[in-house]
Amino acid sequence: MFQNLQALPEDPILGLMAAFRADPAAVKIDLGVGVYKDQQGKTPVLRAVRAAEQAVLADQQTKTYLGPAGNDQFNALMPELVLGSKHPALTSGRLRALQSPGGCGALRLGADLLTVSGFNPTIHVSDPTWANHVPLLSGAGLKLERYPYFEARTGTVRFDAMLERLNTLPAGDVVLLHGCCHNPTGADLSVEQWRKVADVLLQRRLVPFVDIAYQGLGEGIEADAEGARLIAATVPEALIAVSCSKNFGLYRERVGALMVLTESSSQTTATASHLRKIARSSYSMPPDHGAAIVARILSDAALSDDWRNEVDAMRNRMLSLRRALSAALARTCSAEMAAVIEKQRGMFSTIPLTPEAVDILRERHHIYMTRDGRINIAGVSMEMVDYLAEAIGSVA
Ligand code: LMR
Repeated sequence: MFQNLQALPEDPILGLMAAFRADPAAVKIDLGVGVYKDQQGKTPVLRAVRAAEQAVLADQQTKTYLGPAGNDQFNALMPELVLGSKHPALTSGRLRALQSPGGCGALRLGADLLTVSGFNPTIHVSDPTWANHVPLLSGAGLKLERYPYFEARTGTVRFDAMLERLNTLPAGDVVLLHGCCHNPTGADLSVEQWRKVADVLLQRRLVPFVDIAYQGLGEGIEADAEGARLIAATVPEALIAVSCSKNFGLYRERVGALMVLTESSSQTTATASHLRKIARSSYSMPPDHGAAIVARILSDAALSDDWRNEVDAMRNRMLSLRRALSAALARTCSAEMAAVIEKQRGMFSTIPLTPEAVDILRERHHIYMTRDGRINIAGVSMEMVDYLAEAIGSVA
């Protein structure tokens, strides 16, 4: 049965974690997988998460099944976090959330929903996009194409080219948009650009699929959701995939949500029943623990405040690192590269390095990043910024 299966290469992102751990060098830097790290290089359990987790464990009376949609309280609170409680998509009853196993689970649920819709849409992703978007979405049977997005030299969004492409797409096609902190480039749309994109989607009857996995880590919890809010207020139908991995630090608990917006509350009810069926036939129901923690935080004012402060602290640390790395790169590389790092947002930047240069950084300097030049800005400590900039300067 399995004799034809050949061993596959490691995942381009997750494989770096194991390679980094196995490297015995005393001085090494992990800029690979997108997890937040503090100044000590640790990925801590957030204070608010620890407190909520203890409360959940103390109160929990049963571990019986919840059902394919997961935790109802979580499903009610997540749309309020992403869109704000007064958003018309919520007050009109046209939007519903379904808990998912992480942001990946949400993306896959959405892709499966598009596949069962009977419209057979093509999904258009940014060029470049997060490496796992491709297998996740095409694995569900969707045709995948790319729209122009990133100008590597200047580190900015090719907005005119993007809009021009969107303006050629047939009605019913789906456009995947990164809600904030674009992965892998860190180059985001401005609010004005989001508005223009929302108008094109509406006019051409394209369906947005917003992936928001880093809310709070770019400009702030509210500011980072501005694009998703605009889109959901403009178009009749949309999908929004949310992850709680990064902003709640709940990576391994696998908690996220898919939100579906349709033209009417009755259509949303019908669509949600299909999502529950997809969940039931894929994994039956999502794991509860992470969602119970998030629900506890979002329903408790003191815990919510503390969590928001912790998110602000993570974001501010990454912004300080950006500024420091930018200043160091101005000395070791070029003013252009420095400007690119400074203006991008979130956990990632893509710096213009060849795959061979990335290999040299790893072999000679024990600096790990994906071969497209993506760096996780949180992976470096302040003390190592100069070492990193010198090394990049030696191969750029
Ligand atoms: C990343 O982009 O590094 C993270 O989202 C982790 C992952 O699953 O790829």
